[in-house]
Amino acid sequence: MSGKDRIIIFDTTLRDGEQSPGASMNMQEKFRLAKKLVKLNVDVIEAGFPVASRGDFECVKNIADNIKDVQIAALARCSKKDIDVAWEAVKGGENPRLHLFLATSDIHMKHKLDMSREQVLALAAESIRHAASYTSNIEFSAEDASRSDIAFVCRVFEAAIGAGATTLNFPDTTGYILPEEHGAQIRYLKENIPNIDKAVISVHCHNDLGLAVANSLAAIENGARQVECTINGLGERAGNTAMEELVMAIRTRGDRMSVETGIVTEHIYPASRLVSTITGIPVQPNKAIVGANAFAHESGIHQDGMLKERTTYEIMNPADIGLSKGNLVLGKHSGRHALKDRIEAMGYSVSDEELNRVFERFKELADVKKEMVDEDLEAILMDEVLRIPEAYTLKTLGVMSGSRVMPTAGVRLEIDGKEVEMAAIGIGPIDATFKSIAELIGTESKLLFFSVNSITGGTDAQGEVMVRIEDQGRIVIGQGADPDIITAAAKAYLNALNRLVYLKKGG
Ligand code: KIV
Ligand code: ZN
Repeated sequence: MSGKDRIIIFDTTLRDGEQSPGASMNMQEKFRLAKKLVKLNVDVIEAGFPVASRGDFECVKNIADNIKDVQIAALARCSKKDIDVAWEAVKGGENPRLHLFLATSDIHMKHKLDMSREQVLALAAESIRHAASYTSNIEFSAEDASRSDIAFVCRVFEAAIGAGATTLNFPDTTGYILPEEHGAQIRYLKENIPNIDKAVISVHCHNDLGLAVANSLAAIENGARQVECTINGLGERAGNTAMEELVMAIRTRGDRMSVETGIVTEHIYPASRLVSTITGIPVQPNKAIVGANAFAHESGIHQDGMLKERTTYEIMNPADIGLSKGNLVLGKHSGRHALKDRIEAMGYSVSDEELNRVFERFKELADVKKEMVDEDLEAILMDEVLRIPEAYTLKTLGVMSGSRVMPTAGVRLEIDGKEVEMAAIGIGPIDATFKSIAELIGTESKLLFFSVNSITGGTDAQGEVMVRIEDQGRIVIGQGADPDIITAAAKAYLNALNRLVYLKKGG
């Protein structure tokens, strides 16, 4: 026993995180991410806002019914219908939580709700009482709390506890507050709500001023014991508190902290990769903890120091967040069993059928690439395991390009069991490839975003391509990995086009 208080980690990647522009996830992706959150050992997963759409409802229900060993929360406004629908979705979960919210700031009450303080107070209490007819695990959020009259929030929270709320969340909805102020607000709640010992104080910080993690830490320092956060800091506008930053700050500065979390930090990096692959939102290279440069040492003086003693310039061990830093994985003679063990050690689980596909790709790559590292294996996993059903499959691709040739691509696809082919010229080989694919499929979608990264260093590294396309107002992402970057680009484009077909069929 460490004697430290445990901070409840409430992960809202699947709800607030999904509110990041372009971050929508389908049911299969949400389920996969929820399983990863269980591996991370988060305490609560906010799975969605069931009344928002049939799809949201189904996703929450699927997660609540099938994922155990973690509390699943569903969001609801203070309305009977929202609460009933949220309960219907979440009730199959282990210790399911209803999360109700209602704004308490004068700005929101006047302009958005057109309600008086007394009406808000009464509605909050009445809604919590209704939720309490279903469960005793109730969280109430005072939306825009940080810009509200704190004495009024205290009255609302006191009534909320009286009505049955067990967690009281004090969101900085607009990312406006400064750390010292936020700390003082939490202290005020503790000192001025008579029945506060019957509830856990939670915070939910947005990152509009880049202060979400600092504000969450200040709140903890003053008595908050639940923090709402997301992987990679995803979330509405500038996002929410980044879980990896908060957790690693608490762990790394344990000498100054009287709290700890239950997070298994070795799953942080794989979880970050999974979220950016699923959402198509890349992590900025200089992002703390999970950015590509977070453990890279560029200057000669730093490199020299690192060679002599790692702790000269590293305050965290990359292995603690699950970063292999070039761990050599198996070679081309390794068997299926060893590959499965390695995949599991990296925190993933695959079915037998998925393992077969990954194994085949692994062997193909091991034949051409000298050194296979964890990141190579991970790229294959993302490509094969997150693959959605294919309406269009790449059979072959041939490209001609150079300084004095007209870039030309010949593509052969399988569409509905029939092979078709097409050649096109373009400004470059990728342009020519995409034109051939677009012509064969007859798509009118627009390419919004294209990025290519090298997964590891070296000229034999795999290229990882991410694309975002739009078709009739629907935005989807696609990704592909291959040692040949034109092939990786073709795979990514086809992955996005397949995703469109899948969604149109109601996937
Ligand atoms: O930012 C916010 O206020 C929210 C609430 C619904 C908790 O996301
Ligand atoms: Zn929020």
